[in-house]
Amino acid sequence: MEKNFDENFLWGGAVAAHQIEGGWDQGGKGLSIADVMTAGGNGIPRKITKGIIEGENYPNHEAIDFYHRYKEDIALFKELGLKAFRTSINWARIFPNGDDLEPNEEGLVFYDNLFDELLANGIEPIVTLSHFEIPYNLYQTYGGFKNKKVIDFFVRYGETVMKRYKNKVKYWMTFNEINNQQDGEYDVHLWTNSAVLFEEGDNQEEIIFQSGLNELIASAKVVKKGHEINPDFQIGCMMAYVPVYPYTSNPDDLMAANKVMHRRFFYSDIHVRGEIPAYTLKQWERKGLNIKYTLEELQALREGTVDYIGFSYYMSNAVTTLPDVKGHAISDYPGAKMVNNPYIKSSEWGWPIDPVGLRYTLNLIYERYQIPMFIVENGFGAYDTMTEEGKVEDPYRVEYLKYHMEEMKKAVIEDGVELMGYTPWGIIDIVSFGSGEMEKRYGMIYVDKDNQGKGTLERYKKESFKWYQNIIATNGEEL
Ligand code: BG6
Repeated sequence: MEKNFDENFLWGGAVAAHQIEGGWDQGGKGLSIADVMTAGGNGIPRKITKGIIEGENYPNHEAIDFYHRYKEDIALFKELGLKAFRTSINWARIFPNGDDLEPNEEGLVFYDNLFDELLANGIEPIVTLSHFEIPYNLYQTYGGFKNKKVIDFFVRYGETVMKRYKNKVKYWMTFNEINNQQDGEYDVHLWTNSAVLFEEGDNQEEIIFQSGLNELIASAKVVKKGHEINPDFQIGCMMAYVPVYPYTSNPDDLMAANKVMHRRFFYSDIHVRGEIPAYTLKQWERKGLNIKYTLEELQALREGTVDYIGFSYYMSNAVTTLPDVKGHAISDYPGAKMVNNPYIKSSEWGWPIDPVGLRYTLNLIYERYQIPMFIVENGFGAYDTMTEEGKVEDPYRVEYLKYHMEEMKKAVIEDGVELMGYTPWGIIDIVSFGSGEMEKRYGMIYVDKDNQGKGTLERYKKESFKWYQNIIATNGEEL
């Protein structure tokens, strides 16, 4: 029986362009939606401003200046032993307004150089096409993915970069955490993944479904083209799999959990199977949602199914129908609400910590689809302190990652799920997506910069760096 991970297992690290690059107005780049997102804080939501407003703090403008320092950072990744590095292409570097007819050569050259540097250091690039950084013009002028024209813009962008990097990048993903938009009621409608601009009187549920379906069609068209461009490409989807448990053994709680999981499965069912699931068609019918699609688009969904499922795993949730438990109501399942799970603790940002949930998720997804999976995000955001000697001890991060890796190992070795790799989130400190903070740190490499944007941007290896280095060197034998 296998005792360890396959020798080709991709141990890596993950980030996204807008959270690291900076250089927001350099190299011919257009404005992306991430450039108009202000800094929030722990429990303080970010705002999307109308264009750039003087005096506001936009943390993604500089981020960690990876745009200029990527060589230094890749040298550290090599020392760490990374076999893979997941990042995204910032769409607005390639098509500054999103609807341009021709790409921006300078943007293309930047990623040529970045991928060359990774490959020269023996690190496989894993590339997401859209990670919350859609060109601002597509949001402002077209209203984001609720508009079918944006499908064609995405396809043009996807085809352009896949052709350009066909000999440099093998592993792709289309839309980061495409399903998150369904959980909007917890997100104060700040952000919808598809950059939807809501207007007065909009039926938001209808628009969220329409935009999600449009993104799925765009994704399928790019998957098909990608396979024509290079048949060796491995093109995946990217899901946020937060498993939802029944709070009690009351059958109504079990059914509620099943219904909430449909919010996630709607997306991966289409990505993997190429068909709109029956439970969704019934929901649209029952609620009178007018979702538009053509026969040609349905065919495109069937022809562009993904090769693997990339997913993030941070936490689990619980749901109940019991009236006397406090929680957040769920709009599409009257009587049910999301509640705290009394068996698990939370991080300082209130994110539940549940390593066993990762093993459960790997099993659940593999049983449902039987295609390879790739854990492309998992990590622990925490406040770190650097000593005067430049040391950062982060045993809490090691503990979080170790417990999750142990469960991942059980899923592979004992349960036999097919797993391509593991890229912990924020391998280097980056700007938090949700809060816009620098000080919600995920990295194993510390970046000297605070929430106010002050610091030298110098990089320091944390204690977790050494720990992960050994894990990669032993291919996960010593966790
Ligand atoms: C995922 C995103 O949702 O979670 C990342 O793909 C994000 O972009 C990560 O950074 C962690 O969330 P946060 O809000 O702590 O940055």
